[in-house]
Amino acid sequence: MSPATASSLGDWLEKHSTATGLLTVEDPVDPGVYEATAILAQLETPSGGPPVLFANLRNLSGERSPARMLFNTYSKRRSVGLALGVETDTWNDLLEALPQISANLQKPIETADVPVQDTVIQGDDLDLRILPWTRHVEMEGGLYFTPILAAKQPGSDRYNLSWNRVTYLDPIHAGVHISPRQLWSFQREAEQAGDDLPVAMVLGHHPAFNLAAAALTAIQIDEYHVAGALMGEPLQVAPSARFGEDLMVPAGAEMIIEGRLIAAHRVVEGPFGEYMRYLGPQKLSHLFEADAITFRPEPIILEIFAGHRDHLNAHVSIHASLLAAARTAVPQVTRVGWFQGGGPTTAVVALDKSADGQPMRAAMAILSAGNLIKQVIVVDDDIDVFDAQSVMWAISTRVRADEDVIMLKGLQGSLLDPSHPGFGTTAGFVIDATWRVGQTRPPVARVPEAAVSQFPLDAYTLKEA
Ligand SMILES: Cc1cc2nc3c(=O)[nH]c(=O)nc-3n(C[C@H](O)[C@H](O)[C@H](O)COP(=O)(O)O)c2cc1C
Repeated sequence: MSPATASSLGDWLEKHSTATGLLTVEDPVDPGVYEATAILAQLETPSGGPPVLFANLRNLSGERSPARMLFNTYSKRRSVGLALGVETDTWNDLLEALPQISANLQKPIETADVPVQDTVIQGDDLDLRILPWTRHVEMEGGLYFTPILAAKQPGSDRYNLSWNRVTYLDPIHAGVHISPRQLWSFQREAEQAGDDLPVAMVLGHHPAFNLAAAALTAIQIDEYHVAGALMGEPLQVAPSARFGEDLMVPAGAEMIIEGRLIAAHRVVEGPFGEYMRYLGPQKLSHLFEADAITFRPEPIILEIFAGHRDHLNAHVSIHASLLAAARTAVPQVTRVGWFQGGGPTTAVVALDKSADGQPMRAAMAILSAGNLIKQVIVVDDDIDVFDAQSVMWAISTRVRADEDVIMLKGLQGSLLDPSHPGFGTTAGFVIDATWRVGQTRPPVARVPEAAVSQFPLDAYTLKEA
């Protein structure tokens, strides 16, 4: 395993396009009328779709956009591996590799070579309509991008990266959905001091940069350092066009919209095709005012195929954070399943149990790692956490509901969970589907291995009926 190394999205694509099976669409495409996602929907299979680069896109002014756009960067497991420099298409290998890769934090390096500022548009020329804003799924409430927001904590030098849905409002304004996590806290700190929060919306960089943004990182860790770890080399940064050294931006990005989250203003935003595979609700969201658009020659926007496999798999670094949290609490944890075998709010944990309380400890660690998981199923290590049928076998045969189903109340909810309204509290459960320590386990119904060796198939003539 070697971490990813290539500074730009273009370099990365050139290196990996054969391995990922990149498709390029040269025909003119208008992503604002679902044209891009209609093509992606026809290429989607249960195991995801190929990466697709749209080379000729219409913008909101009806002209050709300066930007191309890449979808399905994470749709196939193999592509997620390539984003991280891990040669595998096994989900568990990726989850095991990620903590080692993320531990190699790298301090950013300031550079005078700033491809992303090859073109800088600001002042009266600034117009967000030059971009190929996208409608992904039916009934989306507007035109969207899913960029990475880079922001510096007020009064500190620490940077946070966060992946956010952003909708077009007018030539210099956009609406941003922010969950109550770190970026939210930065914005509130600035707002309480009466200030706007400077942010850089990064529309395209090396695919590992986006995965660093999604990771659940402790607040004291600078996420520019995490980006360096996942990209396999220090993030190159430079002063922003609008804020100078007060906001350092990734120099190797494809395109950046610099601007501010405006204090004491909110705007209507949503619905949007969410990772729950439902439309996330319309709500009052944060107002972004643009100050500059900067981009490299022929930039590529890295966009997510919202509500589809690409979007779900992009949560791989959050998934790895859940595994790490469970293992810190209970070292006997072997695997954690989430979208594969679980669901958007449900995780499955496997452990090699040595004490009866371990399932509950492991479940609580995952429930406390963030507000994403409300339901945890704990199984023994012989169960495949990535296979829902295997998990159901354990629930069906090892659970006594009166003792093994523990109901939880008063959990912080997720706005995107359609089973309850708003950011209010929700409920959850832990199902302990493990055998009790010392319990006699019934033998599994299987043909003896000795018999299979004794009577090999090739000793028989098998006639097709
Ligand atoms: C594709 C994708 C889209 C996301 N969109 C949003 C979003 O719109 N708003 C949000 O708050 N978090 C979103 N997230 C989750 C955050 O990126 C993630 O929880 C991150 O760690 C939150 O950042 P913070 O804790 O650094 O503020 C998204 C994650 C992924 C993978």
